[in-house]
Amino acid sequence: MFKNIPFFPPQASSIAGEVDLLFFYQVGFTIFFSLLVAFLVIVFAFYFRRKTPQDRPEIMGEPLWLEIIWSVIPFGLTLVMFFWGASLYFKMAFPPKDAMEVFVVGKQWMWKIQHPQGKREINELHVPVGQNIKLTMASEDVIHSFYVPAFRMKMDVVPGKYTTAWFNATKEGEYHLFCAEYCGTKHAGMIGKVVVLSPVEYEKWLETATAGVASAGGSALSGVAREGFAKFQQVGCVSCHSIDGSQGRGPSLRGLFGTQVKLKGGRTVVADDNYLRESILNPQAKIVAGYEGVMPTYQTILSEEDVRAVIEYIKQMPEKSKTEGKLEEG
Ligand code: CUA
Repeated sequence: MFKNIPFFPPQASSIAGEVDLLFFYQVGFTIFFSLLVAFLVIVFAFYFRRKTPQDRPEIMGEPLWLEIIWSVIPFGLTLVMFFWGASLYFKMAFPPKDAMEVFVVGKQWMWKIQHPQGKREINELHVPVGQNIKLTMASEDVIHSFYVPAFRMKMDVVPGKYTTAWFNATKEGEYHLFCAEYCGTKHAGMIGKVVVLSPVEYEKWLETATAGVASAGGSALSGVAREGFAKFQQVGCVSCHSIDGSQGRGPSLRGLFGTQVKLKGGRTVVADDNYLRESILNPQAKIVAGYEGVMPTYQTILSEEDVRAVIEYIKQMPEKSKTEGKLEEG
């Protein structure tokens, strides 16, 4: 239904058809009631007009049954919109567990993108067809918005935290990528394309420029996490956060991701992407129970991409003993 509508972007994601269906329901609903009201205004203005200067109509009460009907029916119809819209919203808000994660940084005025294997690109996003893709997005300056009309997908990219969005591209091809939030003089130039490839072509594409990254060392870490490991040592995280699971000046980070963390003061938080990011850039915000807040901020030392890489490394810290860990990671 509603395929290839003139003046509409193509439907190229698993969600696009459903979004369009809801959109057309709402447009149809609005047109129907607008016309009905306009029609009745004209008819009643004519029918109940003052016919002679002496015209004195009887006073009429309001029939209750009529009021109930014109309240209950539109109420029911708008509730359909509400529940339909809410269910679609939830579907779009929660990325499927099996999604491949791609990292996006918005900055004036470009999109920087990094794939889990380590490959980077600018103003282009290559993805395989038919796979769930989760975007984890951050901004280095102002608010941007990642918008792919053909996927019916738009999400703000804001400074200070991660936002996520996901899609599953259903058709190979090239699609527009826009910034949909006014972000400065060259906002209109902050455009790019999403290239949807067959899984085989995607693998080939990955290999063309990942070669250098992929072959660096034989460790179990994926491309981005390997960069994170290098940063982790370079900027000195490792001097307080041991990577062998032992306790140092800071808490061990092994196996941390996704767990509950007890904070000073008794509160508990889940160690998710946003928590880790905040703890790197603003370490005083949430201090782990039993530790002193001695960690300095890494705001000026690590870029958003570096932070992302370090988080990937923390996620993937291998569950290994001290010596094995050192061999593998070095
Ligand atoms: Cu970035 Cu508009």
